[in-house]
Amino acid sequence: MAHHNLDNIDTSEYPHINRGLDGIVAFSTTKSSIDGQQGELIYSGYNIDTLAEYSSFEEVCFLLWNDRLPTESELKDLKKELIGQRNLPKPVLDYIKNTNKNAEPMAVLRTAVSMLADFEDGRDGNKAEENRAHAISMTAQIPTIIAAFDRSRKGKEIVAPLTEGSTAYNFLYMLNGEKPGEAAEKTMDLCLILHAEHGMNASTFTARTICATESDMFSAVTGAIGALKGPLHGGANTAVMNTLLELEKQGENADAVAFTKEKLAKKEKIMGFGHRVYKTFDPRARHLRKMSQKLSEETGHEKLYEWSEDMLKTMKEEKNIDPNVDFFSATVYYSIGIQPDLYTCIFAMSRVSGWSAHYMEQADNNRLVRPRALYIGEKNLDWTPIEKR
Ligand code: CMC
Repeated sequence: MAHHNLDNIDTSEYPHINRGLDGIVAFSTTKSSIDGQQGELIYSGYNIDTLAEYSSFEEVCFLLWNDRLPTESELKDLKKELIGQRNLPKPVLDYIKNTNKNAEPMAVLRTAVSMLADFEDGRDGNKAEENRAHAISMTAQIPTIIAAFDRSRKGKEIVAPLTEGSTAYNFLYMLNGEKPGEAAEKTMDLCLILHAEHGMNASTFTARTICATESDMFSAVTGAIGALKGPLHGGANTAVMNTLLELEKQGENADAVAFTKEKLAKKEKIMGFGHRVYKTFDPRARHLRKMSQKLSEETGHEKLYEWSEDMLKTMKEEKNIDPNVDFFSATVYYSIGIQPDLYTCIFAMSRVSGWSAHYMEQADNNRLVRPRALYIGEKNLDWTPIEKR
């Protein structure tokens, strides 16, 4: 067994051991900038607040992939391309229909995205064009995968994608089998805008690391989905909703303050709070908080919102920790009728735009990512024959 004792180890070769890579700058990027002290997020030059007010998810995709806003005709063309790529290859659809209905949606998404690679052609073409085509096809097909699995596991007929409408509109249509109203589409679109890109988070780092081995974009996105799935990253939004539903089970007089304090006393983490970079309110959470309040009131889920605010106040008072993007997105999705275990998939459905943008940026100026680990195990042990161990 490793003795975890650094006394006899020469650490001079490793001057910067940093277990979580806090503050380590490993890449340069034009995709996003985060000011963790001010609570500011910028995508390729544009503040997230501006994008939330004026843009659409498709426009944000163009921005992240090209570092500039599209003209009217460029946006029209991109929307057309995305619409044209929405259908899944039959074997991928068959996999979705035949897999375990109790599988985690993120696991199904990870496998299905990996499978998509088998049906892409043009492997010998122009690399940049190929990457762009892959970014478009994954962005177009991920919503279809999520909706198809959700319907299939519920024994409902899978709904084919529309040949019109935004990503948000089409996703809600495929999920529910009926066309969404304007407000639901707008809510979904805003959520997609807010989750599209976020610096060197764990899944983006994974995607860039995979790209840096000169592997393909499908591998990078598959790996990124695996990283996003964890509860310390994107999996937190599902965990937040489960916490709020746990409170709901206690009845409408449930005490969210006492509940939060109890968890903290047991040294448990409260999901949807804390961030490696933000040391203030996450700017995305500001938008989601407003949406959560409005939607919860409109849909009769006021209690869920009230408890969220109680938890927020308690976390600030007890630990001085603010909410992150996953805290209020949970109640927003819940209010538009989406089942909690799909929330992380919706995060992926948006973040594929950022992952693919980073992939293309890395491919343009690549260097293998290959850090070191400090060996703290034994050395030069004598061999013991198996019968003597
Ligand atoms: N609940 C309770 N205590 C917390 C929390 C939390 N959510 N987050 C941080 N802390 C405490 C932590 O226990 C530590 O306290 P102490 O110094 O007394 O040991 C201190 O704050 C510093 O935390 P840390 O774990 O060293 O911070 P980190 O940068 O390693 O972790 C984090 C960041 C996001 C993993 C962490 O805040 C966390 O686990 N949050 C809950 C999960 C979550 O919401 N994840 C979503 C992240 S943002 C969006 C996304 O990626 O999806």
